[in-house]
Amino acid sequence: MFRSLIRQSLTLAFIEALTLLFAISWLDLVTGHQVSLVLFYTAPIVFAVWLCDNKSVFVIAGLAGVLWSWADLIIGNSYSSGTVQAWELAIRFAFFFLVGVAGIAMREQQRASNARISLLEHTQRLEKQIIEVSEYERQRIGRDLHDGLCQFLAAIGCAATSLKIDLKEQRLDKFAAEASEIEKLLSESVEQARDLSHGLVPVQLDEAGLRAALQELAASTSRLLPVECTFESAGQNGAGQMGKATHLYRIAQEAIHNATKHGKARKIDIRLSANASAMSLSIADDGIGFSRNENAMNGVGISIMRYRANIMGGEFAIEAGASGGTIVSCTIPTGAAR
Ligand SMILES: Nc1ncnc2c1ncn2[C@@H]1O[C@H](COP(=O)(O)OP(=O)(O)OP(=O)(O)O)[C@@H](O)[C@H]1O
Ligand SMILES: [Mg+2]
Repeated sequence: MFRSLIRQSLTLAFIEALTLLFAISWLDLVTGHQVSLVLFYTAPIVFAVWLCDNKSVFVIAGLAGVLWSWADLIIGNSYSSGTVQAWELAIRFAFFFLVGVAGIAMREQQRASNARISLLEHTQRLEKQIIEVSEYERQRIGRDLHDGLCQFLAAIGCAATSLKIDLKEQRLDKFAAEASEIEKLLSESVEQARDLSHGLVPVQLDEAGLRAALQELAASTSRLLPVECTFESAGQNGAGQMGKATHLYRIAQEAIHNATKHGKARKIDIRLSANASAMSLSIADDGIGFSRNENAMNGVGISIMRYRANIMGGEFAIEAGASGGTIVSCTIPTGAAR
């Protein structure tokens, strides 16, 4: 009902405020000077504050002063002197005016805080969409890489193998050795493209899949980068939902990326542990250590990791390791679905 009142037109609201004011003034006349209805006169002013524009509020406040004075005159209220009557009049006008000003200030404050809340909600929705779109794009590129380039390179590899065999049969050993070299390079390219596509589309990120995907992430990191990356898991993890497992996998990816890029780490340990109520992922490196310098302000990796932890209802931390290096950790509740 209140919402439909708010939606009505300004003119209609103004007419309603006027009607209310006249009704109170009539009541004032009927009850006589023994009963003071000054506070009742503020009701139409407050009504106008919430439903009309500022101009209407001051018109109603002014009219409240005029009608009160008129009722006062008709009732025949007696004052000791004209000055006292004028003073009383001025006080009433000032009071109604102040009620209007205070009401408008409160209304503006509430509108500003409503606007802040909806801006915050809008920003949160946008952040969520950005993450979803980037996830979708990563997966699309990963699938194209896996189903397109990988297959294409593998087919060329097969062609190189059969060329090598043909050349060997024709006793062209020098060319056969070159074909063998091409075959080897192609096989490495297939491996690299496959590793890349697996990073972009971490296959089957469900309960068991998360462990498998992190295991493969550790293996491909050790293979592709000059760093020894290990993975260990303890307990049954509860990241049954695709979304949670994907978020945890992306956190691990970004932490590994930071450890090698900024920390110059030689060793990275990924650990996934779980119990009945929570699951915890930690990525510890032996690098130069995390410090809050001005670079930390420019990147978005840490903010996105923290954001991912938040939308799973979990906690995120990045801190210095006890014996040097950096530890990134994320703990999420496994019970409630999000
Ligand atoms: N494992 C780490 N070891 C040392 N420093 C780190 C580590 N992780 C993060 N940092 C520091 O924190 C900063 C911020 O990291 P963040 O991931 O937010 O941004 P970035 O990696 O610089 O850029 P982006 O991730 O957006 O590509 C880095 O610039 C680095 O100084
Ligand atoms: Mg980063």
